[in-house]
Amino acid sequence: MGSSSDDEGEEYLFKIVIIGDSAVGKSNLLSRYARNEFNMHSKATIGVEFQTQTLEIDGKEVKAQIWDTAGQERFRAVTSAYYRGAFGALVVYDISRRTTFDSITRWLDELKTHSDTTVAKMLVGNKCDLENIRDISVEEGKILAESEGLFFMETSALDSTNVSKAFEIVIREIY
Ligand code: GTP
Ligand code: MG
Repeated sequence: MGSSSDDEGEEYLFKIVIIGDSAVGKSNLLSRYARNEFNMHSKATIGVEFQTQTLEIDGKEVKAQIWDTAGQERFRAVTSAYYRGAFGALVVYDISRRTTFDSITRWLDELKTHSDTTVAKMLVGNKCDLENIRDISVEEGKILAESEGLFFMETSALDSTNVSKAFEIVIREIY
């Protein structure tokens, strides 16, 4: 850990995309993971943003380039370019809004249509801090993930629950 030497071999760079309906918390998951920041009043994303996060796996430096786009169709980036070269995906819904869970199969279809390799996928039920207004049970999330062959995790970008874990499971799976 912490070695600054760069003569230890190759460096790995993996592209990961975050997808899901508007306002499920995609941008806040990314800002929590990459900068440990949360914004209660974040605006809808327009176009594409990305952040690069470096981590060390088995003594190798691994860089994850994490892409975030708008959930709303009218603000989205060119779809094929967004998915091109992605090795991992976080497919996100909001545990307090059923419509966002119902959209998951549509997001998975889009991912499948546009991805050019095998993609490591994590189904993410975000906003698990909102237990009092939960609309999707943990069990339902698990069942969907199992039937679609996805990893599964509930997260909270607000209180940080499982955020790093969700990204890092996908990154390790790719690596
Ligand atoms: P688009 O860019 O429109 O696709 O939305 P998005 O998925 O990026 O959502 P964003 O991260 O902007 O979050 C939408 C709203 O949900 C904001 O008000 C956030 O503060 C809030 N939010 C995000 N994550 C959480 C969370 O884990 N818990 C709670 N309670 N609120 C959250
Ligand atoms: Mg956003």
